[in-house]
Amino acid sequence: IGRNIHYEESVESTQKIAHRLASQGVPEGTVVIADEQKSGKGRMNRNWHSPKYTGIWMSLILKPNIPLTKAPQLTLLTAVAVVQGIEEITGLIPEIKWPNDILIAGKKVTGILTELQAEADQIHSIIIGIGINVNQKQEDFPLELQEKASSLFIETGKTISRAELIRCIFMHFEKLYTLYLEKGFMPIKLLWEGYAVSIGKIIKARTLTDVIEGEALGITDEGVLKIEDQSGFVHQVYSADIEL
Ligand code: BTN
Repeated sequence: IGRNIHYEESVESTQKIAHRLASQGVPEGTVVIADEQKSGKGRMNRNWHSPKYTGIWMSLILKPNIPLTKAPQLTLLTAVAVVQGIEEITGLIPEIKWPNDILIAGKKVTGILTELQAEADQIHSIIIGIGINVNQKQEDFPLELQEKASSLFIETGKTISRAELIRCIFMHFEKLYTLYLEKGFMPIKLLWEGYAVSIGKIIKARTLTDVIEGEALGITDEGVLKIEDQSGFVHQVYSADIEL
């Protein structure tokens, strides 16, 4: 990963560029990195605030030979790689909120957005967008984010080298991805669960159509969240926002 880096100063969204490159057939492991995004994309059609120089805004292009249903596993793998990278560089211990928000002291420092290029049920490319708030100060966040979002600078009081953190995340990603291709999802799942905050707790999951409340039991081998409601029914949740 990261041997082929496509760097831009300012873009609309690194996801967009990665989609274009993936269609052109660039090698697996190509990464698009920008210093600024004018219209960064978040999950569920939200915007992602991506000011210049203060964060890591990047998209990885993967071409694993796995069925479509297993794509969420790679999002979880990416979350583990980012957590390990942040842990190594800052000494902080981040937590993962399913599916892939990375929190420090309860505030979001990283979001991950996975998008697919597929034909029938065959994956052509997976584009994994990673947004990390690195050196923002509290007042750099828009007011509506100040309560919920944080940065590594805010949490450590130190300026963090983005280049070093990127390298460290690539190194962890590479190890985990190799492990995944050799041994499957099980070892990744165990690592992921070790960092997860929501498992075993009563949570509320808002999907696009529904609100499900109950105990988060864990994730399936596909990376789908299982929630047991009051009646004992176990829901499988593919995509939602979680409230703890
Ligand atoms: C989320 O909503 O939590 C996911 C946010 C993902 C943001 C990253 S920044 C790099 C990549 N390019 C984008 O436009 N979005 C992702």
